[in-house]
Amino acid sequence: MTNTIKHVLSPLARQTLQDDELTRPVAGRRPIRLLPWLQVVKIGGRVMDRGAAAILPLVEELRKLLPEHRLLILTGAGIRARHIFSVGLDLGLPVGSLAPLAASEAGQNGHILAAMLAPEDVSYVEHPTIADRLPIHLAAARALVGSAYPPYHHHEFPGSRIPPHRADTGAFLLADALGAAGLTIVEDVDGVYTADPKGPDAGQAQFLAETSAADLAKLEGPLPLDRALFEVMATARQLERVQVVNGLVPGRLTAALRGEHVGTIIRTGLSA
Ligand SMILES: Nc1ncnc2c1ncn2[C@@H]1O[C@H](COP(=O)(O)OP(=O)(O)OP(=O)(O)O)[C@@H](O)[C@H]1O
Ligand SMILES: [Mg+2]
Repeated sequence: MTNTIKHVLSPLARQTLQDDELTRPVAGRRPIRLLPWLQVVKIGGRVMDRGAAAILPLVEELRKLLPEHRLLILTGAGIRARHIFSVGLDLGLPVGSLAPLAASEAGQNGHILAAMLAPEDVSYVEHPTIADRLPIHLAAARALVGSAYPPYHHHEFPGSRIPPHRADTGAFLLADALGAAGLTIVEDVDGVYTADPKGPDAGQAQFLAETSAADLAKLEGPLPLDRALFEVMATARQLERVQVVNGLVPGRLTAALRGEHVGTIIRTGLSA
C-alpha cells in the first residue's frame, strides 16, 4: 500500500480544530477591521410599521447624513412578521420554517427604505452581495440597505418556537464581522428601560442610559432587543458598544453617529 496522504505545511495541519488550546497560537489574534469607516444602522420594524409619519422624517435624516458617513442600513421585521409567526405557530410549523418567513418581512422593509433613498443612489442588496461586494457598492453610493435578519433560515436553532436569531443579532454579527465604526439600533422608544415603557408596568420603568450586554441578559421581563444579541455581544471581536436611539425624534440618529450619548449605550464583552 502506498501512502497517498499529501503533506501540507500548516500550523493547523495536525490539530483537531476542536481544541482551543492548540489553535490559540494561530487563531487567538484579533481579526482585522474590514470596513473601519462604515457606520451600521439597524432600523426597527416597529418604526417602519408606522408608515409615512415615521419613515419620511427618518429618510430625510438619513439623506442628510450621507455626506458625513458611509452607511449600511439594515431593516428589521415588524408587525407582518409577528402575524406570520402567529399563523405559523398555530399550524405547528417548525422554527426553521418560520425564520425565512420573518426574514422576508425584514427584506420588504429594506426594499421600502431603499426605494425612498433611491434618488441618493441607495439600493437594496441581498445577503450574498453584503458578504462579497459591499466595498464596490459603497464606492458607488454613500449607503446601502439590506435585511438585518441573519440568514440562519432552515438552520435556525430549534431551542425555541420563535426564531431566536432576529434582526438585532443579525445587525450586530455583521457590524462586528466587518469591523465597522459603530452600530446604532433605531427603536420607537428612547432606549432600553428596566420595564416596557408602554406596558402595564410603565410606571416603574427606569431609563438605562448606560448598561452592558451581560447586565441586560440578567434582566427579566420584556426588552426591545433579541436576547440572542446579548450572547453575541459577550464574545464581540471589534465593537465595544452599541447605542439604542429613538428614531421618532429627529436628530437623535445624527447625534448618535457623531458620537453623542443620546440613547442607551450597551457595552459588549470587549469593554466589560
Ligand atoms: N425594557 C424595555 N425597554 C424599552 N422598550 C421596551 C422594553 N420592553 C418592551 N419594550 C417595547 O418594545 C418595543 C419595540 O419592540 P421591538 O424591539 O420588537 O421592535 P423593533 O426593534 O422595531 O422590531 P424588530 O426587532 O423586528 O426590528 C417598544 O416600542 C417598547 O414598547
Ligand atoms: Mg427592537
